[in-house]
Amino acid sequence: MTVRHFLRDDDLSPVEQDEVLTLAQQLTSDRFGHQPLAGPKSVAVIFDKASTRTRISFAVGIAELGGASLIIDAQTSQMGRGEPIADTARVLDRQVAAIVWRTAGQTRIDEMAAASQVPVVNALTDEFHPCQILADLLTIRQHKGSTAGLKLVYFGDGANNMAHSYLLGGATAGMHVVIASPADFQPDPAILERAVEIAAETGGSAAWTDDPYAAVDGADVIATDTWVSMGQEGEAALREAPFVPYAVTEQLLAKANSDAIVLHCLPAYRGKEIEAAVLDGPQSVVWDEAENRLHAQKALLSWLLARSFNA
Ligand code: CP
Ligand code: NVA
Repeated sequence: MTVRHFLRDDDLSPVEQDEVLTLAQQLTSDRFGHQPLAGPKSVAVIFDKASTRTRISFAVGIAELGGASLIIDAQTSQMGRGEPIADTARVLDRQVAAIVWRTAGQTRIDEMAAASQVPVVNALTDEFHPCQILADLLTIRQHKGSTAGLKLVYFGDGANNMAHSYLLGGATAGMHVVIASPADFQPDPAILERAVEIAAETGGSAAWTDDPYAAVDGADVIATDTWVSMGQEGEAALREAPFVPYAVTEQLLAKANSDAIVLHCLPAYRGKEIEAAVLDGPQSVVWDEAENRLHAQKALLSWLLARSFNA
């Protein structure tokens, strides 16, 4: 049996990531011509946390692939009452073609994947948001032609899921990734080290700094995210002052390359991590980025299913 999962960005090699993004580009202009889930086959999409974009893009994408989606709020299932993750996997994998899950700790999705005979996809954990980064890389391809050699700078919480996924996914795409964050909110050193290792293979680089103005110099892509991720609401008061110097303002953006594009996975908090004039301004590509969740995830599901076999 071979099953391919997508639990973190480096589950795809550079060649494999390119295959997924190339298919995603094709699907962008041919939304209904590719139907590997015809039957229809079903895909379970489970949420332990809130979602707008992920929920909608997976439901629409699975339908466009010819399949049927089961959108499940975990709290309304037996998972919410403590049924073991592995038991849930063994019930689901006899009926669905893939399992997509948004949850908290990465170990939870690792446990689901270990027990599942169908592909498991990370729809966001505390540590990674790899589907979002595929959409972001697709957006960069659309606006810049390619990703290799471009400088991507992420400002804000360097220890969150988006920062970690930019490091791994960006390095896989051959980008020069810089995380600019307060020293108390640095990336997990093991993830930064892994990104440096990948970058050595792809010709990119990965680095952390606490100096936002040094970071922005020469940037082709600017990215940011909320300072208060899901699950951190109790720390909201502490997660403001340290981040203010890392807000993506018009003043900061003016120091990037003049043709730099601005990404934000959304939801955005105008006046906090990003100024309204930047989010709603001419260099922002956030609405393309949100649409690209659809195309990237359709390509990802197709790719994983094509490489997973139950012998
Ligand atoms: N960007 C993103 O994952 O959005 P949702 O939380 O709305 O799914
Ligand atoms: N870092 C954010 C991303 C939301 C899509 C969070 O985890 O809440």
